[in-house]
Amino acid sequence: MTTIELPVLQPEPANEHTSTNDGGHAVYVETYGCQMNLNDTEIVQAIMARHGFRLADSVADADVVLLNTCAVRDNAERKIHERLKHLRSWRKRKPEMVVGVLGCMAERLRRSLLGEQDLVDLVVGPDEYRRLPELVERAFAGEQGIAVKLSRVETYDDITPIRTQGISAWISIMRGCDKFCTFCVVPFTRGRERSRPLESIVREAAQLWDDGFREVTLLGQNVNSYRDPNGQGDFADLLAAVAQAVPQMRIRYTTSHPYDMSDKLIETMAAYANICPYIHLPVQSGSDRILQLMNRHYTVAHYLERIEKIRSTIPRCALSTDIIVGFCTETDEDHRKTLELMETVRYDGAYMFKYSPRENTKAWKMGDDVPEEVKAQRLEEVIQLQQQISWEINQTEIGKTFEVLVEGPSKRDPAQWQGRTDTNKVVIFPHLGTDQSYIVGDYVQVRIERATSATLFGTVVPG
Ligand code: SAH
Ligand code: SF4
Ligand code: F3S
Repeated sequence: MTTIELPVLQPEPANEHTSTNDGGHAVYVETYGCQMNLNDTEIVQAIMARHGFRLADSVADADVVLLNTCAVRDNAERKIHERLKHLRSWRKRKPEMVVGVLGCMAERLRRSLLGEQDLVDLVVGPDEYRRLPELVERAFAGEQGIAVKLSRVETYDDITPIRTQGISAWISIMRGCDKFCTFCVVPFTRGRERSRPLESIVREAAQLWDDGFREVTLLGQNVNSYRDPNGQGDFADLLAAVAQAVPQMRIRYTTSHPYDMSDKLIETMAAYANICPYIHLPVQSGSDRILQLMNRHYTVAHYLERIEKIRSTIPRCALSTDIIVGFCTETDEDHRKTLELMETVRYDGAYMFKYSPRENTKAWKMGDDVPEEVKAQRLEEVIQLQQQISWEINQTEIGKTFEVLVEGPSKRDPAQWQGRTDTNKVVIFPHLGTDQSYIVGDYVQVRIERATSATLFGTVVPG
């Protein structure tokens, strides 16, 4: 196996901890959880690179292994405990290897992770990544390290993430969450909401275009409560500024909260051709009683009114959602209302979860009274319904021609290409003859010929 040579490094700012890592130790970061974690991993890589570390592409090549973890549901955490167990066998072969846990689980479990599986040397929360190089150096000297303070200001605004592949980039525009949905651990693991300056986000998008990226996704747990710290506006203003700065770039964002889905934001999306007509708008439940227990700040009626506004303003807009089944006290009747809402909205796609109680959240104290079999049954029902709806919607795409951004070879069949419509649908299509060939990052026109619930299949037609 090989290690990746790093792209040109940032000059070292004078006031930062400077590297003692002259030996060029190699670091491997493994990422779990949401897109914010993926972007955080790129930030961690940039911080480590500034301090002289090389990036390894596997555990086998690494002197330092960092797991960037998620704590949103119990099974996310269980995966990490399993992974650590597996890494223990590496430790036998490489006793000097440093292992660290980063991210939301580090923030949630803190000191109790140190020494887990006789393995973990470092525990570093999402707002303390600047201290990683120093803590890793100390770990090489045999010292355990923990840094889990949350910050009201840290946004890593000055750090350019190391993006190693693709034509699609994430830009974190804010960190933290102040919504405190009663089921959710994120406000505890990510801390208070804070936004990056609008100007620096716009600059980063422009740089990404120059670097060959063709799509950016603006990231935050709650992007539509973004506020420029210098008073330059809200999320709609930011979106408009990015759309103007990079008019050829596809612009996406995630996640938005239904409570903050303003008319201004919807109208801004409609006003720019390069803002993709796709919104992920998590609803969680179709029952007002459950939404209130979840502290979601909206009713089903408000949510449907927002959907109506989106559809009348951006007729092509695709929609997806998140749904939790089996939240405490959820009855068959509440569940039926969720199914009903799904049938009313007819989402293009959905992420569906069984409720997983998280310690220290408000809902933890409400109990977990829906039996596991009932949760499993309800989950099965929402999945079945969503698959049926997605399949039906995708059948209506047959015969239409879409502009598709070419992303790379299809994972299942490398003889075919994979790309995406602006409505975020995956499209698979065969290569053309060499005389008309195209490359990753090109836009092509694809006529859809068949569809499953998850994928469209078609052929390139002249543009
Ligand atoms: N900030 C986003 C989502 C963050 S977490 C939002 O508010 O929409 C992503 C999804 O995980 C949530 O939308 C929710 O559906 C799910 N989730 C969060 N906590 C959960 C829990 N304790 N059990 C099950 N699903 C959960
Ligand atoms: Fe969690 Fe709610 Fe914040 Fe989303 S809005 S991250 S679900 S607390
Ligand atoms: Fe998971 Fe943290 Fe993201 S809990 S979903 S990695 S913000």
